[in-house]
Amino acid sequence: MQKIPQKAFCIGIAVFMAISFYGTEQTQAAAKSYEFGNVTMNHATKSQGGEPVIFRHWSHRSKYTCRLCHVDLEFSQVANETGVLEEDNRAGMFCGACHNGKEAFAIDNCTACHPKNKQHAKEMERQAKRDFQKLRKNMPPSVYGNKIDWMQAEVDGKITPKDFLPGISLQKTAKLVNKRDEPRTPALPGLPDIIFSHSKHVVWNGCGMCHPDTFALETGKTKMSMKEITQGKFCGRCHGTIAFALNDCSRCHSKPISQ
Ligand code: HEC
Ligand code: HEC
Ligand code: HEC
Ligand code: HEC
Ligand code: HEC
Ligand code: HEC
Repeated sequence: MQKIPQKAFCIGIAVFMAISFYGTEQTQAAAKSYEFGNVTMNHATKSQGGEPVIFRHWSHRSKYTCRLCHVDLEFSQVANETGVLEEDNRAGMFCGACHNGKEAFAIDNCTACHPKNKQHAKEMERQAKRDFQKLRKNMPPSVYGNKIDWMQAEVDGKITPKDFLPGISLQKTAKLVNKRDEPRTPALPGLPDIIFSHSKHVVWNGCGMCHPDTFALETGKTKMSMKEITQGKFCGRCHGTIAFALNDCSRCHSKPISQ
């Protein structure tokens, strides 16, 4: 009888593990392209009996970097943790930093964010779907998530996300650069290595979205497993929620094993 080559055996295990992850852990995978990255904000509106506010990443990340909102404007990277209040928005914080009638529609347009009732919420959803399809038509495609290859869209000049808001962001000095790759060998032999590229992340995320809270400033120090990632930790805080989905195994496990 022929021996099963080790490599094929390992890939077999990986496929089996992939199936078991998705059976138990993965809840985001089912989001539709036009809903992927939507955040239901209801920390206050829920108790007040109102409809939640739906924040759409796709409509905003096509215009701004992640860093601008999550570092300069202090939005949490965990849904509903920011605790946005009406008076905050009026004071020019959070949504109100842009929704001031200059950068974007004014905060007085209450029902552009707050649905009047369930029926209105459905209409807003349908409108958002139409707007999404219009945007997506001109974008380089990808298989998962929003089905838009956001990095390619930036390279192609289809989007030029702003990284600066006057009066809020600090005056930009020379951009911080880190071109270092952080390779990782997963704990399952036979699976391709992961290449984490700083230069590809920094464009969108700056440094403060990852350091020092999520990742140690020392190569190899942060211990992480695929299970934790599918539970939304480490890489999984962004991948699977906002950035490309975790189904796209080979975009992270990309360096072929030599042998
Ligand atoms: C750009 C979007 C946007 C607009 C426009 C907007 N809001 Fe809000 N508002 C939010 C978000 C986001 C929250 C947080 C929702 C939550 O987590 O429950 C919120 C929360 C609230 C809350 C609950 C929190 C609190 O402070 O008690 C009230 C009340 C409220 N908004 C009233 C208004 C009114 C009235 C207007 C129009 C004058 C308005 N909002 C316009 C985005 C918006
Ligand atoms: C225009 C502002 C804005 C931009 C740009 C933006 N975000 Fe967000 N993000 C938000 C808001 C608002 C929330 C919801 C926060 C809350 O509910 O407290 C959020 C939530 C998140 C969450 C938590 C999602 C969840 O389901 O728990 C992650 C992760 C995240 N953003 C990552 C990113 C990444 C990565 C990018 C860039 C590709 C990005 N964001 C761009 C405003 C923004
Ligand atoms: C960094 C700037 C910025 C921030 C912060 C921001 N927005 Fe926007 N938003 C825009 C721009 C620009 C547009 C598109 C232009 C317009 O419609 O005026 C937009 C469009 C929208 C739209 C219409 C398109 C859609 O997604 O359905 C909604 C709703 C909206 N924002 C909600 C919010 C909420 C809720 C928050 C806070 C949780 C927020 N925005 C924070 C800049 C911002
Ligand atoms: C998307 C997340 C992310 C962003 C954004 C990011 N990093 Fe990192 N960084 C990592 C990861 C992951 C590691 C590896 C950590 C580990 O192995 O424990 C790392 C490691 C490092 C290290 C340790 C390298 C060594 O020699 O030991 C330094 C220094 C560093 N990053 C600096 C930066 C700087 C400066 C920026 C902004 C220009 C930045 N990082 C942006 C994720 C990020
Ligand atoms: C966003 C990047 C990313 C994606 C997408 C991704 N992985 Fe991983 N994977 C990692 C990282 C990071 C590790 C941990 C490496 C280490 O040990 O430091 C890992 C580890 C693993 C391991 C080793 C065992 C373990 O539990 O840590 C397996 C098996 C694995 N991944 C399978 C998969 C499969 C199957 C898919 C697709 C369904 C996938 N991965 C998608 C980044 C990713
Ligand atoms: C703070 C949010 C965040 C974290 C944490 C994060 N990423 Fe990303 N990553 C992004 C964004 C945004 C992009 C741009 C593409 C997109 O949005 O789909 C990206 C792109 C990538 C790419 C695509 C590069 C290419 O050439 O196509 C890889 C690979 C990747 N990330 C791996 C990882 C790994 C591995 C980790 C964990 C060690 C990680 N990321 C952690 C936000 C994040």
